[in-house]
Amino acid sequence: MSVVLERQANLSGDPRLAAQGFGKRAPGAPRLFDPRREADEACAFFAAEGYVVLSEALSADELAFLNAFFDRTQREHPDAWGLGARRKPHHRNQGLIYSQPLLDHPELDPFVRHPASFPIVAQLLGGEDRARFAEFNFRETPKGAGPGAMNFHHDAVREDRLVRTPYMPCDWLCAIHYLTDTGPGTPCFAVVPRSNRYETLKEAYEALGEAYVEVPLYGPAGTCILYDTATFHTRLDGEGDAARRTWHQYYARGGWLRSALPTTDRYIRPPTPVLTDWNLFPERLALHPDPKIRLFFSHWNTAQGEWVASGFDPAVRAAMPRGEQ
Ligand SMILES: [Fe+2]
Repeated sequence: MSVVLERQANLSGDPRLAAQGFGKRAPGAPRLFDPRREADEACAFFAAEGYVVLSEALSADELAFLNAFFDRTQREHPDAWGLGARRKPHHRNQGLIYSQPLLDHPELDPFVRHPASFPIVAQLLGGEDRARFAEFNFRETPKGAGPGAMNFHHDAVREDRLVRTPYMPCDWLCAIHYLTDTGPGTPCFAVVPRSNRYETLKEAYEALGEAYVEVPLYGPAGTCILYDTATFHTRLDGEGDAARRTWHQYYARGGWLRSALPTTDRYIRPPTPVLTDWNLFPERLALHPDPKIRLFFSHWNTAQGEWVASGFDPAVRAAMPRGEQ
């Protein structure tokens, strides 16, 4: 029996199945889309599959800038990365994370509506005036981190996804940009295509039948993966001795949208709820002079509401769980 098969903890409870999902890997690599020339095709692929991969979404200069940002902030602000004495318990086994870099680094602002990925994100959420910011973070699986044993899961979901018509636009989507090269042997992101309309991975496995596959998404630095947060996904471990850096940005859908349920055709989808109760937007973005940018940053949680009411008091921010500078 292989090492992979001996590692248990699969969702089905069947010990013959691999630890990370059902072990049914896709035979080939998925199609890549050029975000600047194939936006419509990329959106159609996402609507059908629940994810899409965009090639060369970041330039060499942008990659150098972001990697230098990682190096500099890990050196100068180790606590922000959970390095050292204040390592955060909820991030153990997930590598390093810099949770809210936008709070203190306006030099990152040009990335929040990136010219390669954002037009596609906006189209998938129903148009530029419907796209909303949710969260922005940087992550690193350091060299030699060893297995993390993350299993397939979905992120935040809305119950109506299982029954509403039409399904799209999705409720939230996440953009993962690879900042280092990934390939067999490095940790990588993996998805189960078309799994976003099932409650459990086992249901998807049974319903999709032959079509059920787990797709590792490899690509050079600069590759961007967009996925519906309802799509089952994981981080495959690789061989544990290579580092991987990623930029993760979550977006939500804004506005009210006519839809239908099996019981009524008069259903109206509300704006997607906030993703977390702790994520904060800095004053320069939340109260931006451009109404278009203010709308983009308009999905405030209660922590944000209190922070705004305090006049963005640093003491209020510091009392929040990930508010450290
Ligand atoms: Fe996830």
